[in-house]
Amino acid sequence: MFDLARFPRKRMRRMRRDDFSRRLMREHTLTSADLILPVFVLDGSNREEDIVSMPGVKRLSLDRLYTVAEDCLRLGVPALALFPVIDAPLKSDGAEEAFNPDGLVPRTVAALKARFPELGIITDVALDPYTSHGQDGLIDVSGYVLNDETIAVLTRQAECHAGAGADIVAPSDMMDGRIHAVREALDAAGHIHTRILAYSAKYASSFYGPFRDAVGSAANLGAGNKYTYQMDPANADEALWEVGLDLQEGADMVMVKPGMPYLDIVRSVKETYKVPTFVYQVSGEYAMLKAAAQNGWLNERACVLESLLGFKRAGADAVLTYFALDAARWLTA
Ligand code: PBG
Repeated sequence: MFDLARFPRKRMRRMRRDDFSRRLMREHTLTSADLILPVFVLDGSNREEDIVSMPGVKRLSLDRLYTVAEDCLRLGVPALALFPVIDAPLKSDGAEEAFNPDGLVPRTVAALKARFPELGIITDVALDPYTSHGQDGLIDVSGYVLNDETIAVLTRQAECHAGAGADIVAPSDMMDGRIHAVREALDAAGHIHTRILAYSAKYASSFYGPFRDAVGSAANLGAGNKYTYQMDPANADEALWEVGLDLQEGADMVMVKPGMPYLDIVRSVKETYKVPTFVYQVSGEYAMLKAAAQNGWLNERACVLESLLGFKRAGADAVLTYFALDAARWLTA
């Protein structure tokens, strides 16, 4: 006879034994409908540039982007998030190019919506691609990013994007009160259907490094940092406070960024507010996974899918990831 005290009374491995029972008890799933692809767009045509710190990701001109948009639709990825690479001469202290109706973003949005009306187009509302100093807002003589003056520009930028047909505007600047101001400006201009995805819990992260290379804001920013507006990685309660304010101000969706080091924030935001909660697997996270995969140290497919499923398990409804198309392919293969 078995000595019952010496044996497990409950064998958790029973359910793990066969594929059918593993599948039956599976709590979370990842599908291509959970993914959003961030893309870097260049002016001109027939252009593509590699991004050294993001192997496999390219800056593309609009004509090249059409293929990417087609891939999204074919693979069931619901939306693209556009990030412009602005030519240096167009950058200024006042970031006027940010609301130029003939600028790169509005032209790209209009062209994509005309060709692919069913593909969701998300635009970033922040001034860093457009400022000569690389900060997300206007600065004073001491270099401090001015809140209310910046909002006045952000509202014009958001209106310009919405006017071009953007489905979702995504303020990523972390100014106080910008969601309210953007909602008011959009409504006043009749853009009542334009959704707002608020980067509510955006941390002052070092994982954005490769992105700043990709959009060319790293050199402008130099030794500068974004500590006076992006959140301190040490804080969690503050993220809930930020999310609460953005929801009161009219956000339709909220975002946590970066992703993997901030899964606790994703979880508590989702549990607290029960609203559409997105997470951004940022450039540095992409670079880490890619570099390890390229060295043969990690299995890329398995690790990427595991990382994305982890976001779902933490409570995310959708994930912005540079792996969106790869993951969608792997999921449908
Ligand atoms: C800037 C912006 C950043 C990212 C998205 N929008 C960088 C920053 O705040 O400096 C980072 C995305 C990434 O790292 O993939 N408004």
